[in-house]
Amino acid sequence: MAYYFDGKSRTFAEYLLIPGFTPKSVTADKVDLRTPITRHKVGTQAEYELQIPFMSAIMQSVTDDKLAHELGKLGGLGFIFAAQSVEKQTKMVRDLYAKFKGTENEKFIGAGINTHDYKERVTALVDAGARVLCIDSSEGFTEWQSKCLNWVHENYGSDIKIGAGNVVDADGFNYLADCGADFVKVGIGGGSICITREAKGIGRGQASAIIDVAAARDAYATKTGEYVPICSDGGIARDYHITLALAMGADMVMMGKYFAAFDESPTAAVTLDGRTYKQYWGEGSARAQNWERYNQGEFARLKFEEGVDSLILSNGKLADGVNQTLSKIKSAFVNCGALNLQELRDKAKLTVISGQSIVEGGAHDVKTV
Ligand code: IMP
Repeated sequence: MAYYFDGKSRTFAEYLLIPGFTPKSVTADKVDLRTPITRHKVGTQAEYELQIPFMSAIMQSVTDDKLAHELGKLGGLGFIFAAQSVEKQTKMVRDLYAKFKGTENEKFIGAGINTHDYKERVTALVDAGARVLCIDSSEGFTEWQSKCLNWVHENYGSDIKIGAGNVVDADGFNYLADCGADFVKVGIGGGSICITREAKGIGRGQASAIIDVAAARDAYATKTGEYVPICSDGGIARDYHITLALAMGADMVMMGKYFAAFDESPTAAVTLDGRTYKQYWGEGSARAQNWERYNQGEFARLKFEEGVDSLILSNGKLADGVNQTLSKIKSAFVNCGALNLQELRDKAKLTVISGQSIVEGGAHDVKTV
């Protein structure tokens, strides 16, 4: 008989944080958003930590070497998109390496890979300077991911870090953690350009997925002594959703739309009715599938789409936007009396809100001018 999960599948917009006590000592300037991104023994420091818990999505319309460089300078991590030829992706990694040369950030060169051509791709990417890889897949609870993780570990040991995913429950997390993933990405169907749920009926509300997988990560740490960080991927529609994801236990978030909106993203700006938009499309959209891999033999073009092509309002310079978001997050940490991610998790009080509360959450009963 089919298994039924308890409770509904909920998303970030259905939750709010209830403030906790704020002592005088807790101020925004003291909030530390550092986070571990690689597997490590409980009680020890991870080899790789980010200064801010932000990763940019492995997408053609989001992360090239330019965006990865801008985000890297602020202490986050970009993954250069994998839906391009090995030669083109390797060039981007090499260019990014050159921009970081000689700095500590050099070790934070990220690149996406897939479970098909990884032997050739990983070899070239590592040679060009990539140090953190991530398997890019809409659904990662598969033997293909295990094979790919094994191959990378056998060939590079712990010199190269590799994330896997995406999963949305404890079973998926435990599988990838057992396979040796350095971090696990969580989220199916919640992305802004994603139509996976409509196309296939696969997925889970992002909040429920994070809450469940965070509990599995903690249980895994208790059982094995190994802490495997989790990344909440997709569905950050407002800045406060980042704080919610962190409060629910995510170690970091991955965002597509958020980064695509900045001037530094790889896509064109378009003016419509006096407003500036940026192009943003899903990796499962016809537009993204149009690169050469999909036109060859076993990778013949997919017969259906899991993503859309869109326009999003442009949001100016990345550094300005990220700094404003960080101010909001730090301010919410202060409201919760928390100075770091662990304190936020320990102290956060969350409530599910009614549909009517969602209406009340925006400006209402006034004419905005
Ligand atoms: P966003 O931050 O809500 O825009 O979501 C970005 C995330 O959506 C990415 O990191 C991927 O996990 C996911 N994604 C990217 N392209 C597609 C697609 O075409 N279909 C479904 N999910 C996608």
